[in-house]
Amino acid sequence: MTLEEAVFARHSVRRYCSTPLTQEQVEELHARIAKLNENFALHMQLVLNDDVAFSGRLAHYGSFRNVKNYIAVAGQKAVAGCESSLDERVGYATADIVLWAQTLGLNTCVVGLTFKKTPTIEIDDGEKLELVIAIGQGETQGVQHPMKPVTRIAPDYDSAPDWFKKGIDCVMLAPSALNQFKARFTVDESGRVMAKHRLGYFSKVDLGIFKYFFELGSGKEIFRKSMLTLRSSDDV
Ligand SMILES: Cc1cc2nc3c(=O)[nH]c(=O)nc-3n(C[C@H](O)[C@H](O)[C@H](O)COP(=O)(O)O)c2cc1C
Repeated sequence: MTLEEAVFARHSVRRYCSTPLTQEQVEELHARIAKLNENFALHMQLVLNDDVAFSGRLAHYGSFRNVKNYIAVAGQKAVAGCESSLDERVGYATADIVLWAQTLGLNTCVVGLTFKKTPTIEIDDGEKLELVIAIGQGETQGVQHPMKPVTRIAPDYDSAPDWFKKGIDCVMLAPSALNQFKARFTVDESGRVMAKHRLGYFSKVDLGIFKYFFELGSGKEIFRKSMLTLRSSDDV
């Protein structure tokens, strides 16, 4: 499965089988996470066999079941020389890892609220834990979220070039906090794309996710450079 195919296959999954991740899946995830951490100045950690983070009332309320593995996504609030905020870098890297996990045959759910912070998650000085990503073999593959009209995030969709439309079509399949899609993408006559978040819960993280999905769908790397802290090694 390619990352592009994973866009269609991925849905949030909150109930998991007891099957542990395979050695190969763990190694692939560690390698991808190491590159994302390096490129986007993040502190993402794969936590395996943890009974605590998804054991509380919040997780129950969020209808999570049997989540034993997750990726904690933390990072330095400010990074010298990087144009993008922590929220956007977290979103961009989160988009990559959920799609990568899908290509490995795993299911995921991005979780900003309905989990418990545990001492197992390492948070260094100056870092903020933004969210965790539940990961494992889902009981099901999940279901497609209710689709919003494309004009919600791209008011000029109908008159936009095809590559822009493909980017937006891809964004509409992305995970978004509360499925809210609080962002706006525009393109001017010279083909310059602008993307802004609107007011909403986790909307800055969502914007980073949307930028990644937009690039994947449109085939253009418009935002990537501003997300990277190390401009030399950008093969993730
Ligand atoms: C930044 C962010 C935070 C989220 N936080 C939660 C959460 O706290 N609890 C939860 O059950 N789902 C959470 N979600 C998952 C969204 O509800 C889900 O992505 C959305 O409903 C769209 O469904 P899909 O992922 O299946 O496409 C979050 C998603 C994002 C992107």
